Amino acid sequence: MNLEGKGVLLTGATRGIGRETLKLLVAEGSKVVAVGRDEDRLRELKRIKNVIPLQADLSDPGQRANVVGIAAETLGGLDILINNAGFGINAPLLETDDERLRQLCEVNFWAPLHLTRASVPFLRNEGVILNVISMIAFVPLRKWAMYSASKAALRSLFLALREELRTEGIKVINVYPPVTRTDFFKTAGSHGIKGIGSVSPDRVARVIVKALKRGKEEVFVSPWDRFLATLGIIFSPLTTRIIGE
Ligand SMILES: NC(=O)c1ccc[n+]([C@@H]2O[C@H](COP(=O)([O-])OP(=O)(O)OC[C@H]3O[C@@H](n4cnc5c(N)ncnc54)[C@H](OP(=O)(O)O)[C@@H]3O)[C@@H](O)[C@H]2O)c1
Repeated sequence: MNLEGKGVLLTGATRGIGRETLKLLVAEGSKVVAVGRDEDRLRELKRIKNVIPLQADLSDPGQRANVVGIAAETLGGLDILINNAGFGINAPLLETDDERLRQLCEVNFWAPLHLTRASVPFLRNEGVILNVISMIAFVPLRKWAMYSASKAALRSLFLALREELRTEGIKVINVYPPVTRTDFFKTAGSHGIKGIGSVSPDRVARVIVKALKRGKEEVFVSPWDRFLATLGIIFSPLTTRIIGE
């Protein structure tokens, strides 16, 4: 897909992987509605040509209800939806209250589902939905139980939905980043995952943009990650026992 002139709705655009992806999309000539909550960062985004910031808390079904409609109206249509916003909780599940767990499921799972459903009428015939999932979808980790579950559920949802949307002429791309150096771990209350290397958000963003251009459906940042994901599927629960704190 040529990204020049394409209308993109990108969630989680204010920092990390989303922020880097936004920069690359704009450089390719796309026009982007950039969703986030942080007012200061959204104000900064306003200065970038072809970026239209939109404030919405995606954990709130009411706030996310109009996001796709506003984006499609502003962009004069919609070609690409990127479900990137997400957060993790690094704590024992038994010590985490239900409200926080529910919020995580809203942002990581329900928001992509609802935004996708609302986008279908605009994306029919050659539209693309790209989901930023995680390697954790293949290797659930202790003290990341709900985050692991949300990403595994997202992967499963979009593997199945991909085949329904194919008949509508919509492509689904799933991207599985490994540990990435962003604010993600600070927000999750974590120092990182012991013994596991990391990549820069810029590297992940380049993989995302390349995936959009090539239309590849299952995307890893490196061949090593693809291998680890396969091991994770074959050897779980052993991989979960070995990896992590
Ligand atoms: N970092 C990693 O190691 C890693 C690895 C694999 C996958 N991922 C996934 O990659 C995606 C991006 O993560 P990141 O590493 O770039 O993290 P990040 O730097 O913490 O950025 C998270 C983004 O999500 C947005 N967001 C979070 N909660 C939101 C809410 N309730 N409503 C609206 N926006 C919300 C944030 O916007 P505001 O700050 O404006 O609220 C921010 O733009 C996530 O889905 C994450 O699960 C990350």
